[in-house]
Amino acid sequence: MKMTECAFVEGMVRLCSDGWQQGWHERNGGNVTYRLTAEETEEARHCLTRLPGEWVKLGIAVENLAGEWFLATGSGKFFRNVPLNPEDCLCLVELNETGDSYRLRWGLCNGGKPTSELAPHMINHSVRKAATGGACRVMYHAHPAHIVALTFLEELTDKAISRALWQSETEAPMVFPGGVGVVGCMVPGSIDLAWASSEKMKEYDSVVWAHHGLFASGPDYDTAFGLMHTVEKAAQVRVLVTGAGGAKQLITDEEIRAIAEGCGVQIREEFLQ
Ligand code: 13P
Ligand code: ZN
Repeated sequence: MKMTECAFVEGMVRLCSDGWQQGWHERNGGNVTYRLTAEETEEARHCLTRLPGEWVKLGIAVENLAGEWFLATGSGKFFRNVPLNPEDCLCLVELNETGDSYRLRWGLCNGGKPTSELAPHMINHSVRKAATGGACRVMYHAHPAHIVALTFLEELTDKAISRALWQSETEAPMVFPGGVGVVGCMVPGSIDLAWASSEKMKEYDSVVWAHHGLFASGPDYDTAFGLMHTVEKAAQVRVLVTGAGGAKQLITDEEIRAIAEGCGVQIREEFLQ
């Protein structure tokens, strides 16, 4: 069996293709990582096509991920090219027994490195793995235009952005009743951005990076992609309405509560008035 025939690779290829078609991945914008199950790691061991790379320091230590394997997009790789040549654009990385270094096990067949945002991905995997009892496996970062636009229109707080999204489409409080975290404008790929995001990820399953994009997590590709899509759709409605002269009415706090109650989810009450 070839690595590219493994379901966890096929799922990432599909996500990259779908994200590109949504217009969320100009040039090399965005990155994604997937934490393999023990069974998938065994499957992967039988499909290796290269010798292990050198151990490389992560710059952080993620102890609860020690020894785990991740599928990742490569730094500088274009999402639109992933379906054409997954072995060139993607890679499998293995963490060492202390969780402070990684090495390449597969992919990047024409050279290169894993995403420059490997550190934020790993810290966020660590935090979400702990917060979800091990269920969370996907970290997905994209540059959807409307969520970026929203960070120029709203105050940069968790409350202001979450409420603006909930007020703009009924699906929003159903899909992310806990809201979204927000971090300010920070240097892409920096350790500071990694730490700031991970603080938010303790409470939220997605984090808005001001003027940059969104970082969404989930137990599988569909859930992480669906969260990205739902946040972006609500932001799109908000931005469209704002650009059309502003809303005559918004979804009220009472209506947001009723929507959450109606579908049996717990809304983050402190974000309502
Ligand atoms: P990489 O190509 O290194 O993954 O960077 C893309 C990106 O979106 C940076 O924020
Ligand atoms: Zn980015």
